[in-house]
Amino acid sequence: MGVEIQIEGLTKSFGKQLIWGDVTLTVPAGEICVMLGPSGTGKSVLLKTLIGLLKPDRGSVVIEGTDIATCSERELYEIRKLFGVLFQDGAMFGSMNLYDNVAFPLREHTKKSESEVRDIVMEKMELVGLVGAEDKLPGEISGGMRKRAGLARALVLDPEIVLFDEPDSGLDPVRTAFLNQLIVDLNAQIDATFLIVTHDINTARTVPDNIGLLYHRHLAMFGPREMLLSSEEPVVRQFLNAQRVGPIGMSEEKDADELAAEKDQELPPLPPIPLQLEPTNGQPRRSQRPPGDWCRANGVTPPPGSFEPAMSMTPGA
Ligand SMILES: Nc1ncnc2c1ncn2[C@@H]1O[C@H](COP(=O)(O)OP(=O)(O)OP(=O)(O)O)[C@@H](O)[C@H]1O
Ligand SMILES: [Mg+2]
Repeated sequence: MGVEIQIEGLTKSFGKQLIWGDVTLTVPAGEICVMLGPSGTGKSVLLKTLIGLLKPDRGSVVIEGTDIATCSERELYEIRKLFGVLFQDGAMFGSMNLYDNVAFPLREHTKKSESEVRDIVMEKMELVGLVGAEDKLPGEISGGMRKRAGLARALVLDPEIVLFDEPDSGLDPVRTAFLNQLIVDLNAQIDATFLIVTHDINTARTVPDNIGLLYHRHLAMFGPREMLLSSEEPVVRQFLNAQRVGPIGMSEEKDADELAAEKDQELPPLPPIPLQLEPTNGQPRRSQRPPGDWCRANGVTPPPGSFEPAMSMTPGA
């Protein structure tokens, strides 16, 4: 069913360097969240903190009543079983074929027989469209296939939470569109909680139920997709619309002179909010809400042209 992650007052530094402070948000059960932020704002550090690979300085990460930040090693070991993680590069073992790579967590963490392992591996390979490629080595396949193999491996233990660190980095736009569709379909099918770190604005605009933005050592905003896509808050607006005008500069922050020079520049209007990507496997998503629902409920007028079918980006459409 997917489980909720309650993050409260989370603060992390390395030595004197504060990465982010006082991060508070709830990742809702079964929903898809995207976390954005300029390079180096600590998105990967956040994912690692959520699975207990890094210890926060302060704050809590509560999953099914257990606080990852303070629990024992033994409890952490149990909680980790709830997670599937897709690392940025797929993190495949180069000398093992895809079959053995995907089977690895099952052989490592369960006592399943080889025939049970085979059933699960083949089911997940089919889910990500890799049947027939079992014997290939990671070095022999494309980046997109490696990502899908990484995804298959992240799914073999039937996770309740799947973390994705830049699943779309290094992929061409067409493969990114297919991967995004796969993520939405998977979410509908396995109903787990998904948290995706990405730099891809189109992914952020069309895939998730909720969006968060890490900026300047804190969580600048977190909330429903429509809330962020209609937000006038300068940092959110700049980032989600990939604009140069705004507080974010090449080296993270612009200085006072640069900002003053921009003062009179008119901001381009907010682009229309696209429709959310819907599953193509005939299974509705539990968290799917009607387009414009959040805007209506909150008295926000979406930018003109929002939620028109032409704006949706569906592979093959
Ligand atoms: N184990 C570590 N020890 C010390 N500093 C670290 C460690 N891991 C990360 N950092 C620092 O934390 C900061 C955030 O790193 P992180 O990798 O989380 O950024 P990011 O937001 O994922 O960036 P990108 O978008 O480029 O992947 C960086 O300044 C990095 O140097
Ligand atoms: Mg990163």
